[in-house]
Amino acid sequence: MLKHIAFLGPPGAGKGTQAKRIAKQTGYVHLSTGDILRDEVARATALGGKAKAYMDRGDLVPDGLIVDMIRSRITAADGFILDGFPRTVAQAEALAGITPLDLAINIALSREAVIDRLSARRVCRDCGKIYNLLFNPPQTPGRCEQCGGELYRRDDDQPEVIENRYDVYMQATAPLIDFYRTRGILREIDGTLPMQTVSERIMELLRS
Ligand code: AP5
Ligand code: MG
Repeated sequence: MLKHIAFLGPPGAGKGTQAKRIAKQTGYVHLSTGDILRDEVARATALGGKAKAYMDRGDLVPDGLIVDMIRSRITAADGFILDGFPRTVAQAEALAGITPLDLAINIALSREAVIDRLSARRVCRDCGKIYNLLFNPPQTPGRCEQCGGELYRRDDDQPEVIENRYDVYMQATAPLIDFYRTRGILREIDGTLPMQTVSERIMELLRS
């Protein structure tokens, strides 16, 4: 099985949803730079302090901070699923110098679908499970089914910030689709398919 994997795709494509599912099935480590940064912000660390303003606007945190943050986690992992990294060509080049990827999977979703999905996303404050009020609602409103934790709306899931995140994705991150295509390791999945179908397609790609 291929074991050095990255998920590309716009905000709301389902990178986090799928990374959690695939990590459970494969035992690989799920490395989400967004989750790591939100944890740094919540713990009011020096890195969190530097990152917060960028995140609140939906802009990218500077490459140097991100690469320093993720490097040791990548080298410590045997199999890994990168979720939200790399996000610029500079980050992709830095990653190539740490550990080459086996597969970059682009989960594609339109701008309209991104806005609909993210406006309805809720996340568990305790375990991080991801819900959607439209597509994947919790059994009890406001409560996590997995751990009973409180569900919250991410600070960057506000309409103007969502739109900026999408624009930043198109400008800074979408070029990575060609970057990995020319290296022969890009695969694409339609992000509008049901979650279970997306997971099955990803598992097929990992076995290929
Ligand atoms: P990050 O946390 O990575 O956010 P993002 O890329 O904007 O992606 P999201 O987490 O919003 O979406 P997702 O694809 O994970 O979708 P999800 O599975 O939740 O980054 C946040 C910020 O941190 C950035 O803006 C930046 O400031 C900073 N940052 C992070 N990494 C960085 C880096 N490398 N460099 C620089 N800065 C960085 O699903 C979305 C919703 O859709 C959920 O409600 C879910 O239930 C639903 N859903 C999922 N799949 C389906 C489906 N198939 N059908 C229907 N609904 C679905
Ligand atoms: Mg995510």
